[in-house]
Amino acid sequence: MSSFYLNNLTDYNTAYEASVKNTEQFWDAIAKKNFLWKKRWSRVLEYDFSVPKIKWFEGAELNITENCIDRHLENNADKTAIIFEPNDPSSESEYITYKELQGRVNKFANVLKSKGVNKGDRVCIYLPMIPELAVSVLACARIGAIHSVVFAGFSSTALATRINDCDCKIVITSDGSYRGAKTIDLKGIVDEALESCPNVNSVLVAKRIHSNINMANGRDEWLEPLLNDASESCDATVMNAEDPLFILYTSGSTGKPKGMVHTTAGYMVYTAHTFKNIFQYQEDDVYWCTADIGWITGHSYIVYGPLLNGATTVMFEGVPNYPNYGRFWDIVQKHNINQFYTAPTAIRALAKQGDDFVNPYDLSSLKVLGTVGEPINDEAWHWYSTTIGKNKCPIVDTWWQTETGGILISPIPNCFSGKPTYATLPFVGIQPALMDENGNEILNTKAEGRLCIKFPWPSIARTIWGDHKRYKDTYFSAFANCYFTGDGALRDENGHYRITGRVDDVVIVSGHNLGTAPIEDAINEHRNIAESAIVGFPHDIKGNALYGFVTLKSESSESEIEVIKSEINALISKKIGPIAKLDKIQITKGLPKTRSGKIMRRILRKIAHKDTGNLGDISTLLNPDVVQSIIDNSLNK
Ligand code: WTA
Repeated sequence: MSSFYLNNLTDYNTAYEASVKNTEQFWDAIAKKNFLWKKRWSRVLEYDFSVPKIKWFEGAELNITENCIDRHLENNADKTAIIFEPNDPSSESEYITYKELQGRVNKFANVLKSKGVNKGDRVCIYLPMIPELAVSVLACARIGAIHSVVFAGFSSTALATRINDCDCKIVITSDGSYRGAKTIDLKGIVDEALESCPNVNSVLVAKRIHSNINMANGRDEWLEPLLNDASESCDATVMNAEDPLFILYTSGSTGKPKGMVHTTAGYMVYTAHTFKNIFQYQEDDVYWCTADIGWITGHSYIVYGPLLNGATTVMFEGVPNYPNYGRFWDIVQKHNINQFYTAPTAIRALAKQGDDFVNPYDLSSLKVLGTVGEPINDEAWHWYSTTIGKNKCPIVDTWWQTETGGILISPIPNCFSGKPTYATLPFVGIQPALMDENGNEILNTKAEGRLCIKFPWPSIARTIWGDHKRYKDTYFSAFANCYFTGDGALRDENGHYRITGRVDDVVIVSGHNLGTAPIEDAINEHRNIAESAIVGFPHDIKGNALYGFVTLKSESSESEIEVIKSEINALISKKIGPIAKLDKIQITKGLPKTRSGKIMRRILRKIAHKDTGNLGDISTLLNPDVVQSIIDNSLNK
C-alpha cells in the first residue's frame, strides 16, 4: 500500500465528496491519524463567516515543534532535516539532522527565554536564508512565542512598520547577508528601522558575513556565544489549538500591510496534508522549494509542511543567476532533488537564458515540479515540463495565498494531471465558487468570475493582527458567507480552475504581492509630486511590472524630470523595498477622475496594457481630454 492518502482519481473523488459532505468527520480522521497531540479536541470546527469567527480543533493541546522534530527522533534521528546550500557554491553545504535540529532549536528557545520572551510575545525575525532563520522560527514555536518573519529584502521603513504593528520587543537579525556577488548590510537596515521602534529592547545578531557592524550597548548581542552557553533541552510549551503560531504581513490594496494571524492546530494539519499529497513526498526524497522563508511559501513549504512529514528540505541562500544561470540545476544535481518548487518568474528568467545552462546537469532525480505565486503562462509551463522535467514530471501549479496558509487549488499527481496555465481542481475540503458582478454564485460549470471559497479549511488565517474589522471588510464583506480571495478565475467545462489575476489594487510583480496604494503614498511624499496612480502591466519575465502616472506640482525641465524619476524609485526603495520600484514613469498633466474626484485607475490600466480601443464611456469624467494626452504620451504604445 502506498503511503499517500490519495492514490488515484477515485480516491480523490471519494475523499473530496466526503470532505464536503462530512467536513468535520473528514478532518477529524486526518488529524487523529498523523499527529502528536497532548490532548484531543472537543470539537472539530466552529465557524461563522458573518462575524467572522473560525475555530478548528478547539480544546486540543499540542506543540507544533514536537510534530516537526521530536516525533521523528525515534526512527529518524540521523535523517537530514535541512540541507543548507550557501550562496557561494564553493562553500560547504550543511546537513542538519533531526537530532541536531532539536538541539539547535532548543538552544535558541532557551536564549529567547533568557531574554524574557514569553508565550504570546511577538518576535521579529529579519534574517537571510541561513539555518538560523528556520531554527529561530521553530524556537519561537517551541516556547509559544509568535514569530513575525519579515522578508530581508524589505526596507528599514517597511521593517519598522511591521515591528511596531505587532509590538515586537525583540528582533533577530544578522550582521549582513550574501546575495550573489553582493553583500547587504542587514544590521544597518535594522539600526535605521529601530530609530522609530522605541519598544524594541533586544537585538540578537547572527554572524554571517563577518562585517564590522555597530552593536548598540545594552541592546545588541551576538547570538553565537549565547547559543553556545544555552542548554540543549527545552520543554515544548503546551499550546491550545487556536493559539497564534505566527503573523505574516501581506500587502493590502490600501493602507498599511495586513498582519495575517495563523493559529496552531489547523495550520499544522493542513500544511502537512497538502505537502504530502501534492508533492508526493516519499521517505528519502529530497525536496527543494526556492522561495524565501520571509514569504508564506517558505513558512508552509520549506519549514512546517516538510518537517511535519519528516522530510529533507533544502534552504538555499543564493540567487538563481549566481555564479551563473545554471545554479538551480547545479543544486538539483548536487543534492539529487526529487521535488522542486519555484515561481513562474524564475522559470521565465531562466528559460530566457537558453538551454545551455540546463543541459550540462543531470536532472534525472526530479519527480514532481511545482510553481506558485502567480499565473504561469503556456510557454513557461512547456519549457518547465520539457526542458527541466524531460516530459516525465507532473507539474503542480499551486494556487494559494498568505491568507490561506496552504495550497487550495492544485493538481495532485497521483490523481489527476496538470493542464498548462490551470491550477486545476480544489484540494480536498476546499469549496471554490465563482461570483458574478452582482454577488451571485455562477452555477454553470464553464464560467468566469471572482474567486471565493464557501467553507473554511483548517489553515485559513483567523484575523488581521489588531484589526479584526479590516479582516472582515477585506475578506468577508464582498460576498455573503464566503471568503473572497481578491483573484479572478475561469472554470472550464471539466471544472478546472485557471487563475486570471488580481481583481483589486494588488499587483503581483515577480511573484511578490504589491499593493499600489502604499507605493503611491510613498512617492506622493516627494516635494514636487502632486498626485500619482500606479497600475500593473504585463512583463515578459516579472509577470507584471509597475507603471506610474505622476503629476507634478510645478513645471519642470526635462533634466529635472529625469532626476525626479530616479528620486521616485529611490523613495520607493527606501519606504518599501527595491522589489516595488516602477518600470515606467509617465509624467502627465492630469489623471483621469470621476466627478467625485476619484482617480479612474481602470482607464490607466487599459493605457498601460496598450488596450485603448475600448475605454468605455469617458464623457462623464471630470477631465475627459486628459485621457487622450496620456494615450498620446504613453510609454506603452
Ligand atoms: C497569486 C503566495 C496564479 C494570486 C502563495 C494570489 C497565483 C496571490 C498562484 C497570493 C497560482 C498565487 N496561479 N496566481 N498558482 N499562486 N497566485 O499571498 O493572485 O504571496 O492571490 O501567496 O498570488 O500571493 P501570496
